[in-house]
Amino acid sequence: MTDVRQPAEAAYDSVARFIHWSIVLLIATQFVIGWTMPEVHHDTKPVGLIAWHLGVGALLVAVMAVRIVWRLTHKPPADTLAPLLSAASRITHLLLYVALVVVPLLGWANASSRGWTVKLLGVVPYPSLTPAGSALGHRMGDVHGVLAWVLLALIAAHIAAALFHRFVLRDRVMQRMLP
Ligand code: HEM
Ligand code: HEM
Repeated sequence: MTDVRQPAEAAYDSVARFIHWSIVLLIATQFVIGWTMPEVHHDTKPVGLIAWHLGVGALLVAVMAVRIVWRLTHKPPADTLAPLLSAASRITHLLLYVALVVVPLLGWANASSRGWTVKLLGVVPYPSLTPAGSALGHRMGDVHGVLAWVLLALIAAHIAAALFHRFVLRDRVMQRMLP
């Protein structure tokens, strides 16, 4: 059947929507585990909540890789926003993508510098990003923690914008990402 929706109502495709909400779930989990897991010291073992942070992190990296490939090969429907609003939305989305790549990579590099192997679903090992004992990799762990706050600020702005569209502008932007 032909899609008769107007561009303003056109939604992201179902794969993009599924991945968006999967990433939301994975990121929320990573924040909760990251904030509640024990502090990591030089002799800490990757067990318990730390193992969960690495495991969920490995899945997040894989899903983000799929997301980026999908995004590069499937353009989202054009928006019908005013130019300034459209530019603000594009910039925020770009910054979100950058943070969604950089924050996990820094965590992964830190894990490598501690000699921990990051494994997808506990089976498929990822390569080490930094040599075990690397001082740089160790510092990347600190940056990982700081940039997680930057990511959180971007997410807060993003959610505020979505709610602004839904309840103040009362347009159909929110529906573009809903099932
Ligand atoms: C966007 C996804 C992620 C978020 C939001 C996140 C969040 C956090 C937070 C809040 C902390 C605690 C920082 C602190 O106490 O200062 C942390 C620590 C850590 N994360 Fe993540 N993380 C993410 C992805 C990853 C991934 C993919 C990995 C590895 C595969 C990872 C590995 C680590 C490690 C090793 C630490 C301990 C760092 C240290 O204390 O030196 N994280 N993360
Ligand atoms: C961890 C939290 C979140 C992250 C990291 C995130 C990330 C993103 C990214 C990167 C995009 C751009 C998609 C693309 O063009 O490829 C996007 C779009 C979107 N997100 Fe989120 N999002 C989050 C949570 C939410 C929540 C909670 C809502 C609803 C309240 C929401 C609503 C939307 C909507 C409506 C769009 C489409 C905007 C448009 O049509 O241009 N997001 N999100």
